[in-house]
Amino acid sequence: MSKITVHLAQTVDRSYRIEVKPGALDSLAAFILRQRRGSKVFIITDSNVEMLVGRKIQRKMYEAGLETLLLSFPAGEKSKNQRIVHALHTQLLAGDIRRDSLIVALGGGVVGDVAGYVAATISRGVAFIQVPTTLLSQVDSSVGGKVGINHPRGKNLIGAFHQPMAVFVDPDVLRTLPQREFCSGLAEVVKIAAALDRRLFQFLERNAHRVSKSNPKLLTEIISRCVALKAAVVEADEFESGLRRSLNLGHTIGHAIESSTNYSINHGEAVAIGLVTESTVAHRMGLLSSRELDRLISLLKKLGLPTGMPQLRNTTKFFSSLSADKKSVGGRAKYVLLSAIGSCVIGVDVSTTLVQNVVMESRRVR
Ligand SMILES: NC(=O)c1ccc[n+]([C@@H]2O[C@H](COP(=O)([O-])OP(=O)(O)OC[C@H]3O[C@@H](n4cnc5c(N)ncnc54)[C@H](O)[C@@H]3O)[C@@H](O)[C@H]2O)c1
Ligand SMILES: [Zn+2]
Repeated sequence: MSKITVHLAQTVDRSYRIEVKPGALDSLAAFILRQRRGSKVFIITDSNVEMLVGRKIQRKMYEAGLETLLLSFPAGEKSKNQRIVHALHTQLLAGDIRRDSLIVALGGGVVGDVAGYVAATISRGVAFIQVPTTLLSQVDSSVGGKVGINHPRGKNLIGAFHQPMAVFVDPDVLRTLPQREFCSGLAEVVKIAAALDRRLFQFLERNAHRVSKSNPKLLTEIISRCVALKAAVVEADEFESGLRRSLNLGHTIGHAIESSTNYSINHGEAVAIGLVTESTVAHRMGLLSSRELDRLISLLKKLGLPTGMPQLRNTTKFFSSLSADKKSVGGRAKYVLLSAIGSCVIGVDVSTTLVQNVVMESRRVR
């Protein structure tokens, strides 16, 4: 018998830049040209974004001399599945994708997750750029390299870590975003502030009435602060073994709401409800004061977000989704709980009965 060690030192610098500025999209083609990657550029987008900006960007790339193919799939969470991934793999192979090609993920969090997963898996990994077009993807999902799809057993259960080579955040593209989607993005903003930054939370409380799609200056500031926080967390804990788990605040319950309502409640809305429900659990456990809980609920309401549990047609599915959560250990869900605005505790073992009680009470006072 022999013992051989495979020494794997990290030799490649995978650092990347995140550009947050109105008009950032105008510099995308020039940036790609500077990378001098061999063959084609493949833009992956969804059916809405294709029409709104996708074709325009493809034309700009073409004018800059880049051979560009645009692939699109039906918009919406239900497209985060194996069938769409397979179809994209097939189209990329038909388009002669090579390891030195480049994929551009142009769209919201669904496109970022799907296109990123496709980029991670095709030809054992092709470079990709994130171009987020929803508030949610600009403040959160485009940074950090978590990519993946859903499985009938639960949300985001299939995936990989694949960091982008750059992120282009252009707040101007948010002008066409439906109000419901805009609010949904604000839920992740509140999550980031509540989990990590008390001053950002206070800033949001003071400015809640001014937050809107037509206030690009304020939006750019909020997006930049969120992205800086997320970048720092990813730098400290890329593979989510500790600190990064704090960004799952509100998501254990949030994911179960999404999958048990068959995704009729969108991600941000489910996160808002998850934040309140999980923080109520934290309060009952003596971790969070009632004043801080009230501040959280009040800010979410001011930003147009739901805070009470929806009518669940299938409570069994909801509670079984909770235990299918990736964060669970030995069949028990592990929670990230708020201990004060701006700080949280990771890996808390919570009694199932307490969660059930809080969920049922929240349904009654909806
Ligand atoms: N990978 C991560 O770290 C991470 C983090 C948070 C959320 N997520 C994932 O992100 C997803 C949610 O993302 P989302 O809220 O962006 O949803 P989404 O991608 O479905 O976008 C929402 C809707 O807005 C449309 N849209 C996108 N850009 C637009 C624009 N500029 N103008 C008009 N319409 C536009 C889309 O076509 C879609 O209909 C979830 O699947 C969630 O799991 C991932
Ligand atoms: Zn999220």
